[in-house]
Amino acid sequence: MQVKVIDHPLIQHKLTHIRDVTTGTKEFRELLDEIAMLMTYELTRNLNLEEVEIQTPVAKCKAKVLAGKKMGVIPILRAGLGMVNGVLKIIPAARVGHVGLYRDPQTLQPVEYYCKLPTDVQERDMIVIDPMLATGGSCVAAIDLVKKHGARNIKLMCLVAAPEGVQAVNDAHPDVEIYAAAVDECLNDHGYIIPGLGDAGDRIFGTK
Ligand code: PRP
Ligand code: URA
Repeated sequence: MQVKVIDHPLIQHKLTHIRDVTTGTKEFRELLDEIAMLMTYELTRNLNLEEVEIQTPVAKCKAKVLAGKKMGVIPILRAGLGMVNGVLKIIPAARVGHVGLYRDPQTLQPVEYYCKLPTDVQERDMIVIDPMLATGGSCVAAIDLVKKHGARNIKLMCLVAAPEGVQAVNDAHPDVEIYAAAVDECLNDHGYIIPGLGDAGDRIFGTK
């Protein structure tokens, strides 16, 4: 199973609060935003740099800036939206695309209803974001779509993953690195992650 668990103490502390059933919508959103920001810091650790020459107030010097085109961030609607602002706090110039998928409650299969991606995805480093990687169906389908539009360099950022979901993404997209704050025990009969945090979309948007 290939997955990078980001076990920074701040992320683990915030994750515990986000899991807690007594955490309300406002706090849930704030915590998810903060965790997404901290995870993005780790996920962008190996971005390529190039050298430029600049003038400081006292001298000329060579210094480093990010190389290549601006990154692309693709939240999977709807719960992925809860992580977008956190990512943009670290990489504010990133382009944002959207993939709309919902999981059919009976079949657990992803159903696509929207796709709008930045242009030139083939030239950008892309991050697909979704707090929950359960069966993996939604993330596999979203990555399929982003690849169909030409993207070659994709990372997946999740909050909580199930082993089944990690395996599904590893099998379908072995080139995609997965980052998660936790890999939980298993899925229940309804495809929910155990212990997980419940329905991420409902907890972010207060719809249940
Ligand atoms: C949730 C979650 C993932 C998906 C994970 O979305 O945000 O996208 O389920 O499950 P999977 O790995 O088994 O595909 P949901 O379908 O509930 O839609 P929502 O975000 O609109 O609430
Ligand atoms: N989607 C969620 O929001 N939570 C789960 O545990 C599984 C899928």
